[in-house]
Amino acid sequence: MELLRVLIVGCGNIAGTFDQGRAGNELPYTHAGAFLRDGRFILSACVEPDTEKRKAFMAAWGINNGYSSLEQVAETEDGFDVISICSPTPMHAQNLELALKLKPRLIFCEKPVTTSLTESERLVAACRDANILLAVNHTRRWAPDVAEFQADMRTGRWGQLRSVVGFYNKGILNNGSHLIDLLHLLLGKMEIEKVGEPLHDFFPNDPTVPVWLKAAQGVPVHLVCGNAADYALFEIQMIFSKGMVTMEDGGFFWRERRAVASNAFKGYQVLGEGVRRDGEYRLAMQNAADNIFRAITSGAALASTGETAIATQRVCEEIARLACTNPEKVRVHSTGEKSV
Ligand SMILES: NC(=O)c1ccc[n+]([C@@H]2O[C@H](COP(=O)([O-])OP(=O)(O)OC[C@H]3O[C@@H](n4cnc5c(N)ncnc54)[C@H](O)[C@@H]3O)[C@@H](O)[C@H]2O)c1
Repeated sequence: MELLRVLIVGCGNIAGTFDQGRAGNELPYTHAGAFLRDGRFILSACVEPDTEKRKAFMAAWGINNGYSSLEQVAETEDGFDVISICSPTPMHAQNLELALKLKPRLIFCEKPVTTSLTESERLVAACRDANILLAVNHTRRWAPDVAEFQADMRTGRWGQLRSVVGFYNKGILNNGSHLIDLLHLLLGKMEIEKVGEPLHDFFPNDPTVPVWLKAAQGVPVHLVCGNAADYALFEIQMIFSKGMVTMEDGGFFWRERRAVASNAFKGYQVLGEGVRRDGEYRLAMQNAADNIFRAITSGAALASTGETAIATQRVCEEIARLACTNPEKVRVHSTGEKSV
């Protein structure tokens, strides 16, 4: 079988470093780890401006061809089926432009696609016009238990959804986009009701913003902020008529609590202690590689696309705009009253 040739752009954490030093039989968290483990891809080349990092990455992943820029790749005769964009977000727009010129069959771009909605829209359209598939790494879209939970919600296993609380930090676009994207998948389109005080806890241009949204049937969604200086935070709590389900630690765990009869107060229903079980986030990157292979070779639909990422970035950008440009109209005080 012919292996699909992969070019990795930006040789840092999500490209491969997160998997370096982990046991070979552990599930991959990175692009290089996922493609290599899948077995139907070959890591043909990588791009990394930092010479030492490039050499170390090539050695760690057995990559023969290393370049300091995508311009350098364009000067060669090399062709690729897949280009993974794993550079810092501000470099994505330029990298995508250059990647398009290399005409791969698919680009696997890290989130967010670019730092601005306008740029992302332009580049997603450019991929579409060039017939180049685009997968965006909103990783949880490839976690099997997220799909199962979506099915549970549809069949009413947990009853009616009453409200949702999400917890995040490290920027509405950088990390909040994972949260908004997951909520889009589970709840569909949401409207922004109001935003709170922006907190600059990581990237200077990407505040973490508390926000109140409304999903279908008026279900309230509240995103609550931590500070990136403290610890990584990504959780979702969903309150249903039959219990409460919480995705913890980014999806590494789920906690399920059902409504049960109270031991203390006769006739009352309360939330039971429930169970905490392992999540299937660990399987997501492996599934992404499989989805990418099938999308290229047999036209399978991609679970996470440029279009789904654009819908997410539109919401993130609007939240940041409201929080940063017009705070006096939307700022919420502890009393719940808006200032005017
Ligand atoms: N999907 C996820 O859960 C997830 C997790 C972590 C990071 N990310 C995303 O991945 C991207 C990279 O994050 P990271 O933490 O791996 O960063 P990193 O800093 O660890 O790695 C980025 C690498 O890109 C290199 N680089 C810089 N300019 C470049 C250029 N012009 N061309 C090619 N390479 C260049 C840097 O030298 C560095 O080695 C970001 O967009 C981030 O948002 C996504």
